Amino acid sequence: RPWGDLVGRTVVVTAGGTREPIDAVRYLGNRSSGMQGFALAEAARERGAEVTVIAANVTLPLGEGIARVDVSTADELSRAVESLAPTADAVVMAAAVADYRPQSVAASKLKKDGSAGMTLELVQTPDILAGLVAARPPSQVVVGFAAETGDDAGSVLQHGAAKARRKGADLLVVNEVGGGRGFGTADNTVTILDSTGARVGEATGSKLGVAHAVLDRIVERLPSE
Ligand code: C5P
Repeated sequence: RPWGDLVGRTVVVTAGGTREPIDAVRYLGNRSSGMQGFALAEAARERGAEVTVIAANVTLPLGEGIARVDVSTADELSRAVESLAPTADAVVMAAAVADYRPQSVAASKLKKDGSAGMTLELVQTPDILAGLVAARPPSQVVVGFAAETGDDAGSVLQHGAAKARRKGADLLVVNEVGGGRGFGTADNTVTILDSTGARVGEATGSKLGVAHAVLDRIVERLPSE
């Protein structure tokens, strides 16, 4: 492995999953554990990068020598990205960010009111990755993740390729989730796409191994110093 090929580079990784409060005790969340994001951070550190992780609700420990910023909501994650991304050589958006949040947050615990159902009004959260792509400094490498569910690998990849073209990130790491795959498991299987949707890599195995495969693709896109 090309240890040391990220010396002198600054890498920001988002990890985990955001939580959007509904009331004083409840939230809308997702099953992202933060394992793949933390593996990316640790792999980048092993290769010599200066790494900061923006961790959304991750309970895992992080290896030594990695800076950590803990956040909870999409809004907090967005602000942390905005402050750290401008000086980064690469930004990896591995966090599962909520696409919608409750329109208002009740200050106390919502009570049952006797009706059989209830409706929660949601509003869209800003797409942080899109903002990054729009605002990035020249030569910064921006990487998105796409967790897709699908009946077959083909549909997962079709969705991934469309998303890669739409999002405009340099790389999109597509992984199939659901049915015991992806979230919270030790191993992962991913396909790496470029901004045109073309397949530029794939990896299967430990999340650390997958992380190095993603970093290989990042390294070859960084400008030589
Ligand atoms: O469109 P989708 O949510 O599947 O895209 C996933 C990618 O976009 C991930 O890299 C995720 O971190 C990022 N994302 C974001 N802001 C959002 C939603 C997703 O940056 N509000």
